[in-house]
Amino acid sequence: MDFTGKVALITGGGGDIGRAAAINFASKGAKVIVVDIDDENGQGSADLVRANGGTALFVRADVSRSEDVRRYVQATLDAYGTIDCFFNNAGIEGEIAPTQDYDEAMFDHVIGVNLKGVFLGLRHVLPVMLRQEAGTIVNSASITSIFGGSGMPAYVASKHGVLGLTKAAAADVARLGIRINAVCPGPVETRMMRSLEAQRNPTDPQAMGAAIRAGIPTGAYSTPEEVANAVLYLCSTLSGNITGTHLMLDGGRSATGGAPSPNRR
Ligand SMILES: NC(=O)c1ccc[n+]([C@@H]2O[C@H](COP(=O)([O-])OP(=O)(O)OC[C@H]3O[C@@H](n4cnc5c(N)ncnc54)[C@H](O)[C@@H]3O)[C@@H](O)[C@H]2O)c1
Repeated sequence: MDFTGKVALITGGGGDIGRAAAINFASKGAKVIVVDIDDENGQGSADLVRANGGTALFVRADVSRSEDVRRYVQATLDAYGTIDCFFNNAGIEGEIAPTQDYDEAMFDHVIGVNLKGVFLGLRHVLPVMLRQEAGTIVNSASITSIFGGSGMPAYVASKHGVLGLTKAAAADVARLGIRINAVCPGPVETRMMRSLEAQRNPTDPQAMGAAIRAGIPTGAYSTPEEVANAVLYLCSTLSGNITGTHLMLDGGRSATGGAPSPNRR
């Protein structure tokens, strides 16, 4: 797990998982580019990396706009010259509503960030890695890339799509020195889960969290750091011949076929 001299580009780097990845990559010697639409949190992650002795830059960009994606790729090359690792991670949860009521504009927004944003990242980073004849990419997928769930049609569809893109793109570049995989977390201790808990039970989000945990065999959400560890593994030489696949981080939930599993602890 030595990334000395490597460059790690992280979208959604101002968020909880992206920030943990930025800190982790930097602690292993990588120069980090934090991309986010949120100035304060994006700059905050870069500042945190620097405060810990690392090297980081923040670039404000909307991953769903190709002009912005071109700009963050160019900014990375201007600053550091290469892109060795790309964590294609920015995503939004959207609103909780059943498919029959789901707002069309919200559907477009969630697909635009979560799916088109991941495509645009691949579309503009891959040519750089192809020139280098090297590079590793990890896309942020989800347990909802495999299983459905009520009230999240756009999110579930977008994350199924992210896994499809991972497989398709990995096949396109497998002989060209580039590996592309996905992480599929179940619930993670992040702002996004707090938002989903509050949307599902506005009067008692903590009870919602407890109910979700009760359905996870280990009884626990993952931590952002655990997801970041998996991302670093998939970007490292330790994962050598692994490409076009995904790593579940879900406390065993998928082992139960996605069905809730009463926590007996
Ligand atoms: N938290 C979970 O339980 C969980 C589970 C499975 C998958 N994921 C996925 O992990 C990724 C990171 O999520 P997180 O939990 O850290 O959430 P988060 O909300 O803390 O972080 C997401 C970040 O993406 C940024 N972002 C949103 N829209 C953007 C845009 N258009 N352009 C650029 N940046 C944008 C946000 O500003 C935020 O900083 C997401 O793709 C999410 O779907 C999260």
